[in-house]
Amino acid sequence: MRVLGLLGAQREDGVTAHTLHAVLDAVPAGNETEIVDLAALDIHPDRSEEPNPVLDDLERRMLAADVWVLAAPTYWGGLSGVMKHFLDCMRQRLVRFDHRGETHPDRFRGIHAVTITTCYTGALENTVMRVTDPPLRQLDAVLQAAGVIRTREIVVTGTWGMRKLPARKAAECARVGRAIPGMRRRDDETMRRYIQLFGMIAVMTLATMGLQRLLARLLPPEGFWAGFWGDYIVFTLVFFVLLSAILRWASVMRHRRR
Ligand SMILES: Cc1cc2nc3c(=O)[nH]c(=O)nc-3n(C[C@H](O)[C@H](O)[C@H](O)COP(=O)(O)O)c2cc1C
Repeated sequence: MRVLGLLGAQREDGVTAHTLHAVLDAVPAGNETEIVDLAALDIHPDRSEEPNPVLDDLERRMLAADVWVLAAPTYWGGLSGVMKHFLDCMRQRLVRFDHRGETHPDRFRGIHAVTITTCYTGALENTVMRVTDPPLRQLDAVLQAAGVIRTREIVVTGTWGMRKLPARKAAECARVGRAIPGMRRRDDETMRRYIQLFGMIAVMTLATMGLQRLLARLLPPEGFWAGFWGDYIVFTLVFFVLLSAILRWASVMRHRRR
């Protein structure tokens, strides 16, 4: 498996670079890893008839990789300019355009990606203010347009004066790096998601029916609440509350802020 790290930061030895290295260093032996420092390249958009060897080379490496690790600091509450400029220049190559100018996933479909951002903002403030949401969302939007599956996010907060990753973050990066070879192409992923969905619905229905039995003891044993429509309303309400709680929990777990 090939893992391509793309660093979109001003500093090649900054916290973002340390984080990217910590992930790639943990990728088990036998897999190929490589880091491209985007700031060191002369990246410019394609112009008709003009060769663009830098983008050609990046495109080749991106196509050859199974997993991308995109690392960019949070600048001015958004994605770093280096990463944004690179993605802007790659747009024509990342997606396919139809006759109406709408974009569709094309050759990069099914590749997996891990995204990383870092910021001065502290963990608690970031949880409340969500400073790292815009850069991560921006990366997600590009990946989604290209059909790339983003599997993990890593956020490093409180980077002011940071020389070395805190042990907890280093451990998280190592965990993600070790898990990278397990990220498979979309076909396997789709099956896994259907099985997960089935499991979730089975557990939710069981929990809902269990709660419904308990609630039935509090409701009148006869009349509307004991009939079909009463059952239906209680089931729908309980199911909705449980589903909202699970989705909320999943979104908090998925979008890490600390
Ligand atoms: C131009 C610029 C803008 C920044 N804007 C923000 C910001 O809006 N919020 C924040 O928390 N940190 C901000 N920072 C701090 C960086 O996100 C932080 O230093 C990051 O960890 C830098 O990564 P690096 O060490 O790899 O360069 C900014 C830094 C720079 C240079």
